[in-house]
Amino acid sequence: MVELINTTDSVTKEKKYQELLPQLKEIIEGESDLVANLANLSSALHLSMHFFWVGFYSVKNNQLVLGPFQGSVACTRIDFGKGVCGKAWETKQIQMVDDVDAFPGHIACSSLSRSEIVLPIFNSMKEVVMVLDIDSDKVADFDETDKKYLQQVIALIERAI
Ligand code: SME
Repeated sequence: MVELINTTDSVTKEKKYQELLPQLKEIIEGESDLVANLANLSSALHLSMHFFWVGFYSVKNNQLVLGPFQGSVACTRIDFGKGVCGKAWETKQIQMVDDVDAFPGHIACSSLSRSEIVLPIFNSMKEVVMVLDIDSDKVADFDETDKKYLQQVIALIERAI
């Protein structure tokens, strides 16, 4: 079991994801409990990539309900189609928002959040069962590199559900 995530701060974001991914894989493959794995993934992404907030919302009774996360206290329930998370659920598409203030209906859990990426997570029937939500305290902090590697992170989860 990985006990300490090792990534280098001075390298490019791409290199850092490349260092991180095998360690995330080891975490997931060493444990069968989903909540335990989501908790550790949140921590690893938060601490190594220095994202302001990292967490998961699960679809429960037609709402997204807050799951394991790292960062400040957050909204517990989000309706279908609402906010960036609800939009990712509704459209089944990754949402990348450069400026949360410019996103109609953005749900502000923290005024420090400036940009956001949300990735839908699918079960084997291609239904959205969760989303991975990441917030940054910098405007336009997410790009195609984040999209590429975070898709690999959620593929690890999808394989385990
Ligand atoms: N901003 C999100 C809500 C969740 S928090 O960012 C943790 C949204 O608009 O869906």
